[in-house]
Amino acid sequence: MVRETSLSPANLIWPLFVTDGEGVVEPIASLPGVSRWSVDGIVERAREAVDLGIPCLALFPNTQADRRSEDGREALNPDNLMCRAIRAIKDALGDSIGVLTDVALDPYTAHGQDGLIDSDGYVLNDATVEVLVGQSLNQARAGADIIAPSDMMDGRIGAIRAALEADGHHNVQIMSYAAKYASAFYGPFRDAVGSSGLLKGNKKGYQMDPANTDEALREVAMDIAEGADSVMVKPGMPYLDIVSRVKQAFGVPVYAYMVSGEYAMIEAMAAAGAGDRDAVVLESLLAFRRAGCSGVLTYHAAHAARLLAKG
Ligand code: PBG
Repeated sequence: MVRETSLSPANLIWPLFVTDGEGVVEPIASLPGVSRWSVDGIVERAREAVDLGIPCLALFPNTQADRRSEDGREALNPDNLMCRAIRAIKDALGDSIGVLTDVALDPYTAHGQDGLIDSDGYVLNDATVEVLVGQSLNQARAGADIIAPSDMMDGRIGAIRAALEADGHHNVQIMSYAAKYASAFYGPFRDAVGSSGLLKGNKKGYQMDPANTDEALREVAMDIAEGADSVMVKPGMPYLDIVSRVKQAFGVPVYAYMVSGEYAMIEAMAAAGAGDRDAVVLESLLAFRRAGCSGVLTYHAAHAARLLAKG
């Protein structure tokens, strides 16, 4: 009766990894229980999400090795894996499920960085923004509902918003990964999209220093001013103080990404017999809501939704 916070499947966004082929299910060793699915399997997962009351999927492609290049141009191919998955979901389910698409070049570059690099391997902000605009339009034309730039370049939200408007995508939302930290918790994700073996160096030139809080507020302020509809904090559990400050300062819908390393920690704990997995999952997700999140991106989304349905 006096509970202040609630958790429901409507608060969950389910990240899914797409791979080529048909009938393909590839388990990801560093993310036990998570697989890459070919497009047909992704459509099945989308139906499952609808049945479970999960409102939105977040898609990430594992691009074939021979389609990765220095400039990541496969991101602009209207028939790339991401676009095929978006179209298949939308053809099958229309508006009954939301599709959120990641904007960044790391699944498409031969070097695993999120943008274009100079001869020293340093990511070039403005040249990258131009490609991200093209990538966003490519995804919006395929039917994406929410464009989610995770690249952390400066100025990309304004540029993407202007391009979406000019191309007639007035109702496509932007959820910006506004406060994304250069975190050690992304390891299993990089395995999942096949970029971990390729990545040279680190992403500290554009992702945030885990020591900073005020900077997160400045990043969020810029993205909102440039036209973001909602913002994201990432990773999740170690950064709930950031969620809370962002929510209090701006009042916009705030999301957090409970990232691959966080998922893997819970699974490792459960596998070691060191805790009640289901209770840990639900407590963690509730904590995101308490901190101020409208929703959480979590690899546990389908499992959590089933637990919530059981009551
Ligand atoms: C890359 C991207 C990353 C994640 C989402 N988009 C990894 C990175 O920045 O290297 C991480 C998600 C996770 O770890 O679950 N643009």
